[in-house]
Amino acid sequence: MNVLAEIKQRFAGVLGSYAESNNVESLLAMIKPAQDSRFGDYQANCAMSLGKRLSRAPRDIAAEIVEKVQLDDLCDNVEIAGPGFINLTIRDDYLAQQVVQALADDRLGVPAVTTERTYVIDYSSPNVAKPMHVGHIRSTVIGDSLARTLKFLGHQVIRDNHLGDWGTQFGMIIYGYKHFVDLDAYAVNPVAELSRLYRLVNQLVDYYKSKLQLDLLLEQIKIRQEKIEELSALDLTGDESQDKKLKKSRQRAATQLDQAKSNYEAVDQKLSAIDNDATLSQLVLAHPDIAKSVLLETAALHAGDEENVKLWKDFLPKCRADIQKIYGRLDIEFDVEYGESFYHEMLSGVVQKLRDQDLATDSKGAVCVFLEDFDTPMIVQKSDGAFLYSTTDLATIQYRVAQWQPDEILYVVDHRQSEHFQKLFAVAQSWIADSVQLRHISFGTVLDEHGRPYKTRSGSAVGLEGLLDEAVAKALEIVSADSGDGNSEYALTTQQCAEVANAVGHGAIKYADLAHNRTSDYVFSYDKMMALEGNTATYMQYCYARVQSIFRKGEVDLEQIRVTADSVNLDHSAERLLALTLARYAEALDEVLEDYRPNQLTSYLFDLAKRFSSFFEQCPVLQAEDDAIKLSRLRLCDLTARTIAHGLDLLGIGVVQQM
Ligand code: ARG
Repeated sequence: MNVLAEIKQRFAGVLGSYAESNNVESLLAMIKPAQDSRFGDYQANCAMSLGKRLSRAPRDIAAEIVEKVQLDDLCDNVEIAGPGFINLTIRDDYLAQQVVQALADDRLGVPAVTTERTYVIDYSSPNVAKPMHVGHIRSTVIGDSLARTLKFLGHQVIRDNHLGDWGTQFGMIIYGYKHFVDLDAYAVNPVAELSRLYRLVNQLVDYYKSKLQLDLLLEQIKIRQEKIEELSALDLTGDESQDKKLKKSRQRAATQLDQAKSNYEAVDQKLSAIDNDATLSQLVLAHPDIAKSVLLETAALHAGDEENVKLWKDFLPKCRADIQKIYGRLDIEFDVEYGESFYHEMLSGVVQKLRDQDLATDSKGAVCVFLEDFDTPMIVQKSDGAFLYSTTDLATIQYRVAQWQPDEILYVVDHRQSEHFQKLFAVAQSWIADSVQLRHISFGTVLDEHGRPYKTRSGSAVGLEGLLDEAVAKALEIVSADSGDGNSEYALTTQQCAEVANAVGHGAIKYADLAHNRTSDYVFSYDKMMALEGNTATYMQYCYARVQSIFRKGEVDLEQIRVTADSVNLDHSAERLLALTLARYAEALDEVLEDYRPNQLTSYLFDLAKRFSSFFEQCPVLQAEDDAIKLSRLRLCDLTARTIAHGLDLLGIGVVQQM
């Protein structure tokens, strides 16, 4: 049962008599859980808005609404407060009934949706020629959690890993393989060798790019210096506001010059590092056209060049297997993994169709779609004939629509691609006559403790595998320290410790990511994410394990307490608050889907775990005053543990019986 949905349903008819049907939804949205339990459990603020609209006293309207809405079986106190708030307090027997029903239900009382929709979720989608790095966590875990939640609520979900398996990165490793491969290393660990080749070629390409950049930066420094001279030649006028402006401009010019100088130095340092390295500097000299050659290798691959296709076919399964290792560890699965290469054959058709529909036009040799609200067009084919990321994305939408007729496609991709998706959606909406909704589920960056993007010392992105290893190692330290102090009820075996460390380490990383509002950046910190107290997976897992330990101690027959449940006692305020929170699980999941934010679920779980903690402090379970209360409290414990485990599972996180 969804209590909030039930309340809204009761209000809907009555509110309908005050408002146009299209306004009822917005009035219903003003019914919410109360922020402060002194004002009841739920609060309806619609009378204020109606008062304004109808020029009547909100309190009168509130009184009328309360008079008409049928709430007797649901609420035992309905109060009008302040200017016209309607405060609702749920009846204890109603709450107890919710707990009883949830106890006997595998879905924990969460109803499936009545209108099933079909979703395609495009997530993780790494470029496969390089190892996965810290930046891939977000898309992977947010997408996975959304898929799990949508499925649980009864929707059709197609989980699609849109691998970057066809782009310039393959031109790089093909070039690298042809010129620099160490075949012995490739035989031992192909992916490590390929990623070495990728980094090396990237470094050489970057060298020449930086050289060009250096000249531009020098030019920029000159311009900014001149600007400063120009500004310092101006005399102060004595007019306060004008002088203030001038001083500001001087200051700004000085900062801009500093910035240009430090940019120059950074690039210069990068170049000197290569110049001073005997091997690298020779390679640089020997490959002056590397940037162009890499593009040619990519083009040859796309044109079906035998050798390049053969190499690509050799590399791809190896790269995929490497990525699969990470997915295996993180328990991530997909329904399809076509990747960009799958759409290659369709791209010329896409461009042709866009032309036929007069959406695409030739511009300076390229084929472009001009868009009303954007300064630059979307290029779908370059003058050398090459297709682009956008072209593939258009083909992909076309394919998905034909194949699955989805109601909605979610793209879980970082915020830097916002403009790409805005353009893509604009083109797709006028191109594909289908009502499919397209949504960019954007997210922020993972930062280090200084607030900069999380990078290794050498400046490259932190590898995901190493990150996971470190989290598991740290978790193992915590677990081993805890179980070695002799206070644990049963010491864990080495094997059990390893299992717990796996669940805790991986869980911590996933949870820390999901618990942040997806659109914000967040700071990556092992210490914070594994804290035993606070909004962490570790705290939830600990809470779950604590309940299991109560059950073990009390030798509780869980099946028995679930099916025989006829009621629970909510006399103690901590029991009541816990039951109220348990009854809100379905609401929390609705909140997740409202704007595709898994942090709504982590907040709920944190709330639940805190409520459980205070219940546990105040209400003895195994030592309860009588058997009936003990049984009732065991039932609250059971439902709490199951809700935590279930919620964590929707986040892709496991629990352990003991830690
Ligand atoms: N491979 C891309 C990248 O690493 C992300 C792909 C996202 N999905 C899409 N349909 N464009 O940046």
